[in-house]
Amino acid sequence: SRSSGEAPEYKLVPLRGFNLISGIHSPEVVDQVQNFEIQDSDVFVITYPKSGTIWLQQILSLIEVKGDVTATNNQLNSERVPWIELLDSRKQFVSAPSPRIRVSHLPYKFMPLGLKQKKGKVIYVARNPKDVLVSYFHFHKYANMLETPKDFDTFFEKFMEGNVFGNCWFEHVKSWCSHKDEMNFLYITYEEMIKDLRAVVERIASFLERNLTSQQLNDVIEHSTFKNMKNNPQANYQQIPVILLNHQLGTFLRKGTVGDWKNYFTVAQNERFDKVYQQKMKEVPLSFIWDM
Ligand code: A3P
Repeated sequence: SRSSGEAPEYKLVPLRGFNLISGIHSPEVVDQVQNFEIQDSDVFVITYPKSGTIWLQQILSLIEVKGDVTATNNQLNSERVPWIELLDSRKQFVSAPSPRIRVSHLPYKFMPLGLKQKKGKVIYVARNPKDVLVSYFHFHKYANMLETPKDFDTFFEKFMEGNVFGNCWFEHVKSWCSHKDEMNFLYITYEEMIKDLRAVVERIASFLERNLTSQQLNDVIEHSTFKNMKNNPQANYQQIPVILLNHQLGTFLRKGTVGDWKNYFTVAQNERFDKVYQQKMKEVPLSFIWDM
């Protein structure tokens, strides 16, 4: 998959203990994110990778245009709702008109200090980590900026060690959720969105104080379904250059289900995962839907 001779060498480079992808992320920018000046109208969607980031980019950009898909269709999701850890994000952020809506995979310790003064809003999206692991395994196979795993078992170990971009899933979700009271914070899960997308979109719209008619909500939801996003080149990163994503080896919108981990985890891996989960999540009262 990495045969194209011109592809740059991407590798994980830690900054203060958090892995960044060289050539994609900028340590200088990430180091400054804490000092980004936050406005009340700023919105940050925070996720561990593969938890539905692209889904939120779609939903939030559609909410902003009241469901009018013709207004979003000429832009990639990542252009409508950019990442803040990317190379050129600071300039973009400072000069962008409000509301500035951004996504990030950064852990809590890097985030703008203004958020803790209850400026801006944070939406944290969590997904059950077994499905995150499987989704991330597939993503590693076709994302050229990540190391192709030898096999599932090898990737399982890497994920458990936190030796991936995003680092340890447990630490990510714990760090954000244990500080939720400091911020204007909305917690949602991928599984709730699968179960009742309308209810979650309504919660998001109300959290952001956006008034949408029932028809406008219908339009947002209609264009955020798995099927419609998969068929929408802008909403599934078909245009991202092959140097980053090898489209012959996978698709960004892959399966979109709950419980796919059952097709991958061995009984032993599952038992081990459960044990680690119980131990690491003891003090965090979050519960996940593992299967539907
Ligand atoms: P799968 O690989 O399990 O299919 P992220 O954007 O954080 O990288 O998350 C990608 C995951 O979210 C993929 O999971 C993708 O299919 C899923 N996803 C994205 N949009 C979705 C939608 N509209 N409905 C269901 N799942 C969606």
